[in-house]
Amino acid sequence: MLPRDGVTQLPPIAALRRDFIWGVSTSSFQIEGATREDGRSPSVWDTRGQKGLIANHDTGDVACDHYHRYREDIALMQRLGLQAYRFSVAWPRVLPQGRGLPNELGLAFYDRLIDGILAAGIEPWLCLYHWDLPQVLDDLGGWTNRDCAGWFADYAALVADRYGDRVKRFATFNEPSIFTLFGYGFGGDAGDTAGLDLLHRAIHHVNLGHGAAVDAVRERVPGSSIGCIHNYQLCRPSTPGDAQAAELCDAYWNRAFPDPQCLGSYPSLIQAAMEPHMQAGDLARIQRPVDWIGVNHYGPTFVKTVPGSRLGFATGDRWPDIPATPIGWPIVPEAFRDTLLTVAKRYGLPVYVLENGLGGHDKLDQSGAVIDNERIAYLHDYIGAVNDAAGAGADIRGYFVWSLLDNFEWDSGYGVRFGLTYVDYPTQKRIPKASFHWYRDLIKAAGT
Ligand code: FCB
Repeated sequence: MLPRDGVTQLPPIAALRRDFIWGVSTSSFQIEGATREDGRSPSVWDTRGQKGLIANHDTGDVACDHYHRYREDIALMQRLGLQAYRFSVAWPRVLPQGRGLPNELGLAFYDRLIDGILAAGIEPWLCLYHWDLPQVLDDLGGWTNRDCAGWFADYAALVADRYGDRVKRFATFNEPSIFTLFGYGFGGDAGDTAGLDLLHRAIHHVNLGHGAAVDAVRERVPGSSIGCIHNYQLCRPSTPGDAQAAELCDAYWNRAFPDPQCLGSYPSLIQAAMEPHMQAGDLARIQRPVDWIGVNHYGPTFVKTVPGSRLGFATGDRWPDIPATPIGWPIVPEAFRDTLLTVAKRYGLPVYVLENGLGGHDKLDQSGAVIDNERIAYLHDYIGAVNDAAGAGADIRGYFVWSLLDNFEWDSGYGVRFGLTYVDYPTQKRIPKASFHWYRDLIKAAGT
């Protein structure tokens, strides 16, 4: 890591392609707010908020108010000099019943957003699903219902028809392993085979939804470039006795989606568990040709054995000598380099890093600035790792910081901040942090 104060140095990027893409990522529920406006229906994350399950009883009701302030946010993107912006469409905003009749007001919001992004000279990267499933579909079983794959494909078709004249980059899902594992996997005990069954059903149906959505977008959008975004972290055993747990975690966390999607098979460790939920021809339905693989990465996952638990494993303690971010996520840039090399080799696809960043508890200093040198040091070392992986032969084509803005960080609510821009929630004022200026300088230097 660089020294914590006065960091200005940029990382080495000489091994990166000349047409390397620099971007930032966000997601609908985390920034939009306006959850009850213009015909949007609740998502499963509205429900979690209403139930008081989020830290500090936070909700996504207002978030960054991006629904109203998107023009200001596009101006921030322009100031950064971004080449690409990844966002997601909120399914419950454009299809309030989850299927059937589209909501013109919701669709029109993304028209305005996309047109604004394009007018700023930035390429829109549209992710179809960043966890905000319409509650009405969850009431029908959500991803544990095989029909959900078809509902998702119909939604993908609607989005492709509407925006495919302007958007060419489409991602089907953001981090399918995370929302399935954390939704159905962790928690529960070993005797709960019904719970485990739900996890396996959800995994398979999301994979079917991916394949069907790839076809739906490909058919409708000439020149489209499609992939899925995976949270991929090397799994390390917390202690030598946790090696088997780490292997099983790797199968669920890293491979349960890209393996069937890109290689046409489930990892051998979970194959038997998946079989009862599969029908003839399913693997061919899932393995549709994609153009790239997306990787989100935050640090290796440390895994411990938990006897008597539903999965037999959980996330464990990091090794004692490993530094961590302010929210306790391990900092190991070499593991990022190795992850990128592993993914590039295993799947043989161009790789885009579509999320990476540091979560903290940033505060305004007395002068009203946010000097987040720790984030700069993190980005420096992690972008350096991208360069190292490219130098060692991995075909990496882009890097997107998580995130443009501080935002609603799921169960942690607004207490955890990942933004290059500080958001003062009471006033909604946007204040670019030191890392914002650093990243702008990096993009500028890369283009010269
Ligand atoms: C990822 C999510 C993203 C954000 C970051 C910190 O797992 O995709 O929405 O919360 O973590």
